[in-house]
Amino acid sequence: MRTIDIQTDTKSSQILIGESIRQVHTYIPANRKTIIVTDENVYRHYQDQFPQGSVILMGLGEKNKSLQTIEHIFNEFVKHEVDRTTYIVAIGGGIVCDVVGFAASIYMRGLPFGFVSTTLLSQVDASVGGKNGVNFQGYKNMVGVFNQPDFVICDPEMLKTLTDKEFRAGFAEIVKAGAIKNSDFFEYIEEYIPQALQYKPEVMEKMVYHSVLIKSEVVEADEREKGERRKLNFGHTFAHAIEKLTGMLHGEAVSLGMVMASKLSHKLGFLAEKEVNRLKELLVNIQLPITTDIPMQDIFKMMRQDKKKEGETIHLILLEHLGNAIIHPISFKQLEEHLNDLY
Ligand SMILES: NC(=O)c1ccc[n+]([C@@H]2O[C@H](COP(=O)([O-])OP(=O)(O)OC[C@H]3O[C@@H](n4cnc5c(N)ncnc54)[C@H](O)[C@@H]3O)[C@@H](O)[C@H]2O)c1
Ligand SMILES: [Zn+2]
Repeated sequence: MRTIDIQTDTKSSQILIGESIRQVHTYIPANRKTIIVTDENVYRHYQDQFPQGSVILMGLGEKNKSLQTIEHIFNEFVKHEVDRTTYIVAIGGGIVCDVVGFAASIYMRGLPFGFVSTTLLSQVDASVGGKNGVNFQGYKNMVGVFNQPDFVICDPEMLKTLTDKEFRAGFAEIVKAGAIKNSDFFEYIEEYIPQALQYKPEVMEKMVYHSVLIKSEVVEADEREKGERRKLNFGHTFAHAIEKLTGMLHGEAVSLGMVMASKLSHKLGFLAEKEVNRLKELLVNIQLPITTDIPMQDIFKMMRQDKKKEGETIHLILLEHLGNAIIHPISFKQLEEHLNDLY
């Protein structure tokens, strides 16, 4: 097992990579009433491994990442006579953890809580950074808080029950972590991806560990160095547009977005073509998409509508090398001139 400690002004949080769900009870203070919140899939697969406690179920999918679900959880909290000494454990993917982190943060002005992250995406991405929240009126993550769970357990064994598609999509964020910050790690992914795809525990543990470490370092650095956190958005400006247009999985859209951003990096003279090809080859080995039929103009239009756009200029994350990202401001006009180069 590997651990990463995250310190904020008010709290410390521990990410436990390679820990088993069966050990959750050891991280909950003794003799505390415990409430577990999970979704139907995770309950079906793992209920026999849950810690002692009452279980609250929530629905599946982004549509349930809503204020209605928060209200449902609060109703259950009232029924179970939850008070400030009650311990809340979310067991699930990014959706369950985002919703429960928010519910626990605001109920009675904050209850103690921890996560068991059960998807690859949530282990490498949603487990760090302290963002919790729900969607509102069609906008993603519009309502929420920053607050760290006491612990996040990332149990690699649990990844075996994910669909192949969900599992592979999670690797997009691992590739992203290497591409923006660590060339050695990128090389490690290239070499060990076949073993990772066969769930080899020590390989999975190392990949999740380094991805979480990179994210936690970037998040910490942002406190001093304004904008550093933006690097985590490598491929994401394109990906968010693609996700909205196609409904494909986040990781699949990130794969396409990273290819587009790296091609643009090459066209603008930052990145060698052979590095673009290395990235593409790795994504192909994971069976993630690197080409799409969606007209580039549609992606561009959707990007312009993105609420995060800063006037006529956006800050795109480009690569100088595999392992080194830069923040590059570019006008929509300039970007439009390069659209045909990004397929
Ligand atoms: N807080 C953050 O910093 C952060 C970062 C990245 C993503 N997110 C959020 O995470 C969400 C996506 O997370 P996700 O991809 O984990 O989706 P998810 O939570 O919907 O999980 C995907 C599917 O896998 C099922 N599942 C979960 N664990 C399983 C397991 N071990 N075995 C079998 N099935 C399992 C779920 O029931 C669901 O159907 C998005 O809402 C996104 O906004 C948050
Ligand atoms: Zn992402």
